[in-house]
Amino acid sequence: MPRDPRIHDISEGLFFIQRGWLNGNHFVFTGSKNILIDTGYVRDIADTEALINQCGLAIEDLDLIVNTHAHCDHIGGNREFQRRSDCAIALHPVDRYFIDQRNASATWWRYYQQDAEFFPTHQSLDHGDVLEQDGLAWQALHTPGHGMGQIALYAPDTGWLISADNVWDNDFGVLTTRIEGLDSPLRLRDSLARLAALKVSTIYPGHGPILPDGPAAIAACQERVAAFIAEPQRMGRDQVRKIFLYTVMMRGPLTRGDLRQKVFTSPWYPEVCELYFGGKQETVYMDALEYLLGKGLLVEKDGLLDCTLTA
Ligand SMILES: [Fe+2]
Repeated sequence: MPRDPRIHDISEGLFFIQRGWLNGNHFVFTGSKNILIDTGYVRDIADTEALINQCGLAIEDLDLIVNTHAHCDHIGGNREFQRRSDCAIALHPVDRYFIDQRNASATWWRYYQQDAEFFPTHQSLDHGDVLEQDGLAWQALHTPGHGMGQIALYAPDTGWLISADNVWDNDFGVLTTRIEGLDSPLRLRDSLARLAALKVSTIYPGHGPILPDGPAAIAACQERVAAFIAEPQRMGRDQVRKIFLYTVMMRGPLTRGDLRQKVFTSPWYPEVCELYFGGKQETVYMDALEYLLGKGLLVEKDGLLDCTLTA
């Protein structure tokens, strides 16, 4: 059987796996210590395991799971994989605190009504700590903004950067100001400046394709966050659109009535409309739906809305 094209060889024993938007991408390190960075969304755990197996690694042989942050699309396999392998789980101390406190808002599952399971944590990976992988050293960099306890991992010897949801292709992870802090765009701006100061070569993002020109990708995100800071409604529109898409990816296909009901009764939507749009829930809803249908990100067929992005 040919290997799944979502798996990319980076170097000996080092693999990057490109998933979709509901599932974060993964890194697999095999060697003297088997390490998995991020474990996807809980619903798709069988697909995640099959991909890891194709890198020559059985879940039972995992030594360590590292999470770039504790949102549902990055920690979904943690509990099951940890139970089967008895591996350690490492996160930044901030996200470790939220997991240990069983905080279902900071971790998103309650706020965005996503599915996830809590899990035990064993290690903290703080700013400046180094993750060793058979001769390659990865520095942990605390990069808050999208998530309070988000880390990026940087290998100075090669310039490779595991950027998590700080840097994607011309975009970055949603800014959830009510959860991550009203200053989260400013924190993301500072985190991006920190990344821009490094000698980055290739970026391996938390979602989307590999970015061969790291500095250009960081610069594009810096421009985007500057525009959000200048005009916060842009940030609000981006949040509404992204969470509509995730909602349809998770629960779809949905009728317009179902989507509307889910959104209007959610914890997040009324707050976002209040924060950015003077509480105009109806207008914001119609504008977002029209935008997503117009861009082809949502399609409507036989009265059902579906998302065209890969989950
Ligand atoms: Fe993510």
